[in-house]
Amino acid sequence: MSRLDSFIRRMEAQRACIDFAARPGNVPEGPVFELGLGNGRSYDHLRERFPAREIYVFERQVNANAASMPDADHLIAGEILETLPRAVLRFRARVAFVHSDLGSGDEARDRALSARVAPLLAEAVAPAGLVASDQPLVIAGWQKLPLPPGIAESRYFLYRKPKA
Ligand SMILES: C[S@@+](CC[C@H](N)C(=O)[O-])C[C@H]1O[C@@H](n2cnc3c(N)ncnc32)[C@H](O)[C@@H]1O
Repeated sequence: MSRLDSFIRRMEAQRACIDFAARPGNVPEGPVFELGLGNGRSYDHLRERFPAREIYVFERQVNANAASMPDADHLIAGEILETLPRAVLRFRARVAFVHSDLGSGDEARDRALSARVAPLLAEAVAPAGLVASDQPLVIAGWQKLPLPPGIAESRYFLYRKPKA
């Protein structure tokens, strides 16, 4: 498969997982976190799909398209391993949905970062909340969900925190 095909399939998987989360009743009340603003494409999609929710965006190198820039109250700039622990103190067990797209293409680096981010998500997410991630996450007690129809295994990852 060409890199272009692979990229397109990853983007389709990302969109399908966000759309799944946005279906009525699929996530509890609460804010949404976007980990990795990048160009702002998936943030823009989140804004469309969750128009009534507060969306907080984490990014260490803010360089998004101007049309997809969060306002200052919702942009949490800095290294995620410093900013996310502070956000946990503020939002503990209240976040309805996290879209995590921190991948760099360096497998070892991405695995190491995911291992440190996962326990922070475990604390931030509300009971019955969802995480859609470009990387596999290991969170004890959470349920790994099947991907939406048409999305191949391991293109993206969906997890649900158990109800309290
Ligand atoms: C694949 S891009 C995100 C693309 C984005 N979802 C979009 O639709 O344009 C990954 C982003 O995560 C950010 N990132 C990676 N590691 C990070 C870290 N440790 N702390 C904060 N941001 C990080 C990178 O700077 C990059 O912008």
